[in-house]
Amino acid sequence: MNQAAAAAPPDQQKRGLILGIESSCDETAAAVVAAGRRQLSSIIASQIATHAPYGGVVPELASREHLRNIVPVVRAALAGAGVSLQDLDAIAVTEGPGLAGALLVGITYAKTLAFALNRPLIAVNHLEGHIHAVLLQQSETNAGPLALPALALVVSGGHTHLYLARTQQGDTWHYQNVGRTIDDAAGEAFDKVAKLLGLPYPGGPWIDALAAHGDPGAVPFAFAQIKPKAHKQQDPRDWYAALAADTLFSFSGIKTAVLRYVEVHNLKPAIQVRRDALAANPSARPLDAVALCDRQTLDLIASFQHAVVENLKRRTFAAAQHYGAASLLISGGVAANRELRSVFTSEAAARGIPVAFPSVALATDNAAMIAAAAWPKYIAHEFAADGLSAQPNLRLGVP
Ligand code: KG4
Ligand code: ZN
Repeated sequence: MNQAAAAAPPDQQKRGLILGIESSCDETAAAVVAAGRRQLSSIIASQIATHAPYGGVVPELASREHLRNIVPVVRAALAGAGVSLQDLDAIAVTEGPGLAGALLVGITYAKTLAFALNRPLIAVNHLEGHIHAVLLQQSETNAGPLALPALALVVSGGHTHLYLARTQQGDTWHYQNVGRTIDDAAGEAFDKVAKLLGLPYPGGPWIDALAAHGDPGAVPFAFAQIKPKAHKQQDPRDWYAALAADTLFSFSGIKTAVLRYVEVHNLKPAIQVRRDALAANPSARPLDAVALCDRQTLDLIASFQHAVVENLKRRTFAAAQHYGAASLLISGGVAANRELRSVFTSEAAARGIPVAFPSVALATDNAAMIAAAAWPKYIAHEFAADGLSAQPNLRLGVP
């Protein structure tokens, strides 16, 4: 269990206390956040070790681990914040998107707590949580408000979405979904390419560390232009069919290109050696894998990461210009990537548009972002109905 907690706050900061609960995928998390602005505690029980042997999240195992972890994680969040259940003003929980069984564990527990404590229950969209992770970071660092409208890139293992975000009527947020991936999410591409190259799950942090040791220009990966017609024919009822082709992402092609490179250059035997060496050493860290990669592999990894980051950059900045965004906000697990942060930071500076990221701890899944996103809903008395249930395919905003 990892704990990230701000210093114990004076009592006057213990107002508007929201307990956030997140269980949408492979992290059981609970956090106490004061008035949507300051983390008093944030506890994350990661299931990486459970899913690593399978190279991805196994839904049934995820539900079982959430069941095992939810009570100790909530207890640790309360203890870390130095508060009791009675001190809480509301309970917030992720209602979707995510794995149905995993979401249900958090929702059922949150509902029970809210009922027993006679406190309001607030349902939070996980994607809105990722956006509020950045706003929480801004509050905690006294960075001042972001200029609106803000263009948010939510880039994680399950999502690559662009939202135009603005507030309406006080603190209530409104989102317009202006871009998305038509196939794999960017984080999924990191994970699949890592697996292909014999690196552990989740692959993003391994690729991030190894890419720094290779030549990003060695392998020229290209992204095909997405034809709007081809995309629309996939599903005529598609909610996103109206999106412009240049705000659509596609990451399945680059994964296939890496596979082809591996086959053409006969890298499979070396990959098996690497996979076996890492499997024999479960405590290996990403940098330990540098010695297990030859120059060609390091160059391939650096080129893959560079191509993905450049593609995210190009489309995000094009959308920012098209929609007249006054600031940029980048969140989700892939926002932890160092090349992405540095490339987006320099491009933003060159274009004179402010860009904000969450801390690395707030970028990947956590419950502090859920409690922070719940705050404007608490103020607006937007409480969940008694029948709240898991919404595995929940979307955010309007197209
Ligand atoms: O937001 P998150 O924790 O969970 C989802 O909502 O999906 O994101 C997890 C994803 C994984 O695909 C992981 O490989 C990726 O974020 N990730 C990274 C990095 N750290 C995590 N990708 C690239 N570079 C990183 N440093
Ligand atoms: Zn997430």
